[in-house]
Amino acid sequence: MPLISGKILFEVANEFNFAICGFNFNNLEFLKAILEGALEEEAPIFIQTSENAIRYAGIEYLSGIVHAIKDKYPLPFALHLDHGKSVESILLAINHGYTSVMIDWSDKPFEENLEITKEVVSLCAPLGISVEAELGKLVSLDVEPISRESFLVNPEEAKEFVDRTGIDALAPAIGTSHGVFKFKEKPKLDYERLKKVKELTGIALVLHGASSVYPEYVEEINKFGGELEGAKGLPEEAIKEAVRLGINKINTDTDLRLAFMATLRKFMAEERRSVDPRKFLKPAMDEVKKVVKRRIKISGSSGKAELFTKYL
Ligand code: G3H
Ligand code: 13P
Ligand code: ZN
Repeated sequence: MPLISGKILFEVANEFNFAICGFNFNNLEFLKAILEGALEEEAPIFIQTSENAIRYAGIEYLSGIVHAIKDKYPLPFALHLDHGKSVESILLAINHGYTSVMIDWSDKPFEENLEITKEVVSLCAPLGISVEAELGKLVSLDVEPISRESFLVNPEEAKEFVDRTGIDALAPAIGTSHGVFKFKEKPKLDYERLKKVKELTGIALVLHGASSVYPEYVEEINKFGGELEGAKGLPEEAIKEAVRLGINKINTDTDLRLAFMATLRKFMAEERRSVDPRKFLKPAMDEVKKVVKRRIKISGSSGKAELFTKYL
């Protein structure tokens, strides 16, 4: 079965007011855990690779595995480039069968971000490949001393950006950030701003930095030699509220890494006489799969694969 275009995933999720999970992977172990989890949940998904993932594994390996195994998974799933930083990156993804890309010039001035995004849309749209872009900076509301207006998305700008670029999905900065340390105090998101962006643009919206940083994995990692004191993520209730207000894709990388590393650390400490990597990797994959299923459930996409049968 061919991979599906992100255009269809975004369109249907937006129409039916739910979110689809975007899961990052760097290797076979994560990819398999993600696809097995999605299959059990009968959920549409984005499987995505960052530029760092491509530097680490090689795009031929990453896309090669995906294209080799896709028929094993009768699911609507797109292969997506996460945080593409150049037109060269986008072209590389197109040439390796990606069906969705993100161009991220959110750290550049508005007009520069807009111009490169327009160029990427002009390359991708004729091929049926979806384009996601980002506005604002992924900075936590409680750790950032500068004013919110200077780093959160501006809803009027979002409307202009969407109208002038023709993107399929927008990632608005509303107070999340990547990684393990998202908040110092109480997690906060700017829901009013999110609502406004949805009202003005009507487009599919993406929540980056959505990991919940589950305390059980942080504790396990700390118990077996890690040092993640102060780790804090986005509560599941906050994600559900964001979905209710118009988020249609939820990006998760850190929660998968935490589940994997917690299990790996524990088994390495306990299985002292084994040198078979599979003994360690298999339980770590199983734990990643559990988190995949949990995230799919909170996104509202469990059982939603059936909405896509006419596109497959
Ligand atoms: O954008 C953040 C994702 O978690 C990817 O992270 O660049 O370390 O692969 P990475
Ligand atoms: P987390 O670090 O919260 O998992 O966010 C991942 C992400 O946004 C990937 O683009
Ligand atoms: Zn991101």
